[in-house]
Amino acid sequence: MAAERNMQLEFSDKISQVVSNGYLSLALALGHKSGLFAALASFDEPKSCQEISEASGCKQSYVKEWLGAVVAGGIVDSTGDKYFIPPHRRPALTQETPGSCNFACHAFGVATMTKSFNKTLELMRHSDSKDETNEETKQASSHEEHRHEQQTEKGHSHGHGHGHGHGHGHDHGHGHDHGHGHGDAGDAEEGSVMDWYTDWSADFVGSHMISTVVPANKDLQALLDKGASVSVLEIGCGFGAACLALGKQYPNASILGTDVSDESVKMAQTTLEKTGLKNVSFQVANANELPSDWTEKFDHAFAMKVMHHTIPSKALNEICRSLKPGGTFTMVEIDSRKTLAGNSKLKHGTWLYIMSLMYFVPLEESGTGHHGSHFEHSDGEEGDEITGFLWSKENIEKAVARSGFKEYTEAKVPYWLFESMYICKK
Ligand SMILES: C[S@@+](CC[C@H](N)C(=O)[O-])C[C@H]1O[C@@H](n2cnc3c(N)ncnc32)[C@H](O)[C@@H]1O
Repeated sequence: MAAERNMQLEFSDKISQVVSNGYLSLALALGHKSGLFAALASFDEPKSCQEISEASGCKQSYVKEWLGAVVAGGIVDSTGDKYFIPPHRRPALTQETPGSCNFACHAFGVATMTKSFNKTLELMRHSDSKDETNEETKQASSHEEHRHEQQTEKGHSHGHGHGHGHGHGHDHGHGHDHGHGHGDAGDAEEGSVMDWYTDWSADFVGSHMISTVVPANKDLQALLDKGASVSVLEIGCGFGAACLALGKQYPNASILGTDVSDESVKMAQTTLEKTGLKNVSFQVANANELPSDWTEKFDHAFAMKVMHHTIPSKALNEICRSLKPGGTFTMVEIDSRKTLAGNSKLKHGTWLYIMSLMYFVPLEESGTGHHGSHFEHSDGEEGDEITGFLWSKENIEKAVARSGFKEYTEAKVPYWLFESMYICKK
């Protein structure tokens, strides 16, 4: 009995931590979006609530409560009436440190999901079975009210297509531009899943493109470092942020960004014009069928969170064809496994299923296309063709092995939570 009681206490303790950390995630999200973390990280000594409020442009009465939440949560230190973030904590909370991950940005992802809560609950309660009981019918109609509430809300986070037109390019280096504006290309409604994706993408390019993604391929890094005129193709460039970062860093390289969405390419071109970079260009292209005259044209190709939108058996071979002999391809994808057992071992296992449940399954059920929303819960060959958001490590490796690439390696990046990276060689 005592052992049973201890197990109960231990588990209750775990759950109470989970709940507390859920609230703490909201505090992290507010710190990220309001600019409070950026303001705090700019100080090299503890500051008062008033000083932090002035630096961030946020209202003091709210900042005071927010500081309470983050001090209680062990994120910010307090010395009586002054507050400070020790330097070693800053990389995980801001976008200031190349190579690190801004997890406060991902806590914002948690906050954006809360918008879909009622809708998800309503969808979950609708039975799959055709012969619904009276009780279920009653429940369904009482949920009409929720639906109405949601429709009258200004923004709803379901329904806008996934896959096109995100990855907004804003120039990294918002540095001490505390607060709101994350760039000029963003059209995502504030607080929506797309708003989070925009932040995530900008953060990824700003913190990792030059300092992590390029160096993962030593041959490419060496060529770029010696100022060689390397020709680089980006597949699914979105609004072009990665191409612009590459073009700026490596003026001798020529960078071609491509995307299947002409809207994204237009936005990338508009941003490019403002930069004045001459070694970057953009064009519409579908990875499943690249132009026929691109055979052996490029030294290197990148595709960041794109290949799961393509038909990998076609797109991988098309990219391989477009590379010169010995050319390389860097593919960044969402890190997942094929089975529940595999995903349960990942730190972000729960995130994968919640994204699927609250975002991709509703999109798929509303008929806006195939997003590969469902994981296999056990191993088997039948899931081999699943791509979409849940294109797993197992299936990625099979697809690459079946393609024209001679070899590939997975580059392990410390601190990455959601992404995996593969370097493939022709
Ligand atoms: C998740 S976004 C990633 C954008 C950008 N690479 C980033 O990291 O933010 C996926 C992008 O792939 C593009 N895309 C989808 N299918 C494609 C295809 N068949 N060929 C080329 N681009 C594609 C979409 O238009 C979108 O811009």
